[in-house]
Amino acid sequence: MLDMERVRGDFPTLSRKVNDKPLVYLDSAASALKPQVMIDRLSRFYSCHYANIHRGAHTLSAEATADYEQARQRVASFLNAPSMDQIVFVHGATEGINLVAESWGRQELRAGDEVVITELEHHSNLLPWQRLCEQVGAKLRVIPIDERGQVVLEEAETLIGPRTKLLAMAHVSNALGTILPVAELTALARAQGAKVLIDGAQGVVHMPVDVQALDCDFYVFSGHKLYGPTGIGVLYGKKEILESMVAYQVGGGTIDAVTFEGSTYLDAPLRFEAGTPHVAGALGLATAIDYVAELGIERIAAHEAALLEQATAAMERVPGLRLIGTAAQRASVLSFTIEGIHAADVGALLDQQGIAVRVGHHCAQPVMRRYGVSATTRASLGLYNTSGDVDALVSGLVKVIELFS
Ligand code: ALA
Repeated sequence: MLDMERVRGDFPTLSRKVNDKPLVYLDSAASALKPQVMIDRLSRFYSCHYANIHRGAHTLSAEATADYEQARQRVASFLNAPSMDQIVFVHGATEGINLVAESWGRQELRAGDEVVITELEHHSNLLPWQRLCEQVGAKLRVIPIDERGQVVLEEAETLIGPRTKLLAMAHVSNALGTILPVAELTALARAQGAKVLIDGAQGVVHMPVDVQALDCDFYVFSGHKLYGPTGIGVLYGKKEILESMVAYQVGGGTIDAVTFEGSTYLDAPLRFEAGTPHVAGALGLATAIDYVAELGIERIAAHEAALLEQATAAMERVPGLRLIGTAAQRASVLSFTIEGIHAADVGALLDQQGIAVRVGHHCAQPVMRRYGVSATTRASLGLYNTSGDVDALVSGLVKVIELFS
């Protein structure tokens, strides 16, 4: 069990009031709150040993470089990557996917090839593939989901075929909370010789991830959803694939030798990190990973699963509430509509009670279309949430409904 008093004490934002009410933060799928230890790490870097990396002749730069590369090592061990050279620091999951699309995809995809995604993808794992397919004459194929928000495996078996060059799928849906059967889907892609990219933005936060066990070619995630800073994320890639890729951004820090006649580039990962990277972000992310690892990702997952079960049962009893996404395997997310009340009103009225949720299409318009709605209200859980937060949400929703009746 997590020591919730201690855990909540680690997050300074939780002690503030919003609209004169104690904050109930249920928007961790959008971005997680930050533990003090992570905030202190950023502050220590900026105040004590700040410098640019990989460039300086001086002590501060050497210290910052060592810390940055140590952060890379920390991420590698967190994902069980075979080597730290397979960890590329990017802005976030979105940049990681765009990097793969523009570097690997543009090089490998030809007219007639196919990229397979699922119906529940975040726009970030749809748009880069859609645009690339349009540009090179490849075809985007979409594995449908059923009414509960689960990927239809029989359809996947048909859609993933000899023309498939890539299967790109979420680990966990940000809009529905569905945990995808990534092992089964990866096996289908492997059988056809296709590469596999997993968008782990919502996955890495809620379950242990072992990229070698998953046998994916690429895994991406964002630091800010993992209790780390904004503006930092990770692309993991298999070594031989990263080495075969030409960077889509070039610039300082990526080169071996430059002449006007031609230039040569460094190996991965530095080849893909043009310009001064987000050094503080990498350090903060490593600290956030330490924090999560110390609590234990399995313990966090069990805590969140119990809350999800409590919330699902309670919300099913709220009159007029329709849960959108009821997959058997689900993490953290409760997406719902309330009959006769627009999601924007639900969100605003909950906010007046100090309850933070997200409303809208959650960057997953095809998912909304699938369920015939334009928007949902989404409550999402983090490691610091309690059963009291779930009670507050449910009674908050009852109040909203009363206001409209
Ligand atoms: N992708 C984030 C979300 O689901 C922003 O809210």
